[in-house]
Amino acid sequence: VEAHLADGPLKGKRIVVTSGPTHEPIDPVRYIANRSSGAQGTAIARALAAMGAEVVFVTGPAEVPPPEGVKVVLIQTAQEMMEAVEAALPADAGVFAAAVADWHVEGTSDRKLKKSKDGLPTLSFAENPDILKTISQRTEGRPALVVGFAAETNDVLAHATAKRARKGCDWIVANDVSPGTGIMGGTENAVTLITDDGAEDWPRMGKDAVAARLAKRIAAALA
Ligand code: CTP
Ligand code: CA
Repeated sequence: VEAHLADGPLKGKRIVVTSGPTHEPIDPVRYIANRSSGAQGTAIARALAAMGAEVVFVTGPAEVPPPEGVKVVLIQTAQEMMEAVEAALPADAGVFAAAVADWHVEGTSDRKLKKSKDGLPTLSFAENPDILKTISQRTEGRPALVVGFAAETNDVLAHATAKRARKGCDWIVANDVSPGTGIMGGTENAVTLITDDGAEDWPRMGKDAVAARLAKRIAAALA
C-alpha cells in the first residue's frame, strides 16, 4: 500500500488513466481479447496517486489487481471504456495505457452459438471508438496533457511518431513489444518518450520505475 502524499506535486490534479485489455463479446459465453496484463497502466495509476493526484482508473479485465487509493471503474468493452472516460472528464491529464480492441463483433447473439451441421459461424467486425483520438481532438474540455502509448513490433519510432500526429495527443510512450524483448507480460519495459521536443530513449527498467519517471514528467508538465 502506497503512502499517499496528500501534499505531493500532483495534489489537486485529476488524471484519468485507462489500462488493461478490453473484452469484446461474441455471444454470452465467448469474447475476443488480447494479452495485455494491465501491469504498466496499473503502475502508472499507482505512481500518480502516490504523488497526490486524484486518479480515475478505467480498466478492462486485467491480470494485476488495481492500485489502492484510486477510483476504479471496471469495464469490459471499448465502448464502455469510451463512456467511462467521457464520464470522468473534466481532467487535467489523460493517460491512455489500455490495449483497446480495435474491433467489436457485429450482431452479437444473446444466445450461445451452437455447432451446426450447416457449417461454421462467420464473425463480422465493426470498428471501435478510438478513445485516445476522441479525447485528444476534443475542442472543449480537452485535458491539458494527453498521453498515448504505442506498442509496436517493428519500426517503432516511425510508427509511434506517425501515431502521435494521427491521434493528436501530446506525448506518446512507445515501446518494442516483439516476442524477443519479453516486455509483453513481463515486469520490465524499455520505452521512448515522444514529445514536441523529440524522442527520448529511456533505459530498460522495471515497469514501476517507468511509471515513477512518467509521473514525475507529468507533474512537471502540469505544474
Ligand atoms: N487507443 C484507444 N482506443 C482505441 C485504440 C487505441 O484509446 N480504440 C489508444 C491506446 O490506449 C494507445 C494508443 O491509442 O494509447 C495507440 O494504440 P494502438 O493500438 O497502438 O493504435 P491504433 O491507432 O489502434 O493503431 P494500430 O493499427 O497500430 O493498432
Ligand atoms: Ca490498436
